[in-house]
Amino acid sequence: MNTAPIGFFDSGLGGLCVRDAVTRLLPHESTIYIADSANCPYGNKPEAEISQLARQHVETLLARGVKLIVVACNTATAAAIDDLRATWPDFPFVGMEPAVKPAALHSKTGVVGVLATQGTFHGRLYRETCARFARNTTVLMCVADDFVQLVEKGETSGPQAEEIVRHRVAPLIAAGADHLVLGCTHFPHLRPLIEQAAEGRAVVLDSSDAVARQVKRLLAARDLLAPKTAVATHDFCRTHA
Ligand code: DGL
Repeated sequence: MNTAPIGFFDSGLGGLCVRDAVTRLLPHESTIYIADSANCPYGNKPEAEISQLARQHVETLLARGVKLIVVACNTATAAAIDDLRATWPDFPFVGMEPAVKPAALHSKTGVVGVLATQGTFHGRLYRETCARFARNTTVLMCVADDFVQLVEKGETSGPQAEEIVRHRVAPLIAAGADHLVLGCTHFPHLRPLIEQAAEGRAVVLDSSDAVARQVKRLLAARDLLAPKTAVATHDFCRTHA
């Protein structure tokens, strides 16, 4: 069981940054990644539909014998993680959550920008985190669905991508945001463009490394970490319309 893979799924390629963070921290762990590109984007789909898709991915990953599943998508976490945990109560799931807490904690201007999908902003998790940790902070929410399309098309550089990113980021910076939270796993793939658009005036935060640490903690607590002798394999599956 210790050499069993860790499962990941996302609406597409975004969550690969989370998988990469996990494999950097845990190089002996094997992985299976499902990119649900056929159903991308998830961002503006009804919760019930995302929950249904999430269950299918979990069933596929469980049939492949995974020992833990990372829901490598903020939108799917918002829509489905409670249902997944209720359905498979003994199985370990790790979800994504926008890094609003550290952003609010470290902000000097008292203004932070969050880039995410509509689905993530509507979720209970996000609203609770803001209410708990960002009560005295102005949180500017920016739905950046067009970033998802850029990443799915592999267009993470060039004048058109730069312009699309600048169009979303510049107003947040102009409004005084000194932290930008990447609340969608597609967005770290655009990090260089986001940093460029921020012109050095904001710290850019994403949750991949924190999630990787949580994966390590959960596996260690269950005595499920792969031995140092294990040779990792990485499997990638992509759905097509
Ligand atoms: N990668 C997903 C997330 O983290 C969203 C992309 C989509 O809209 O499908 O929220």
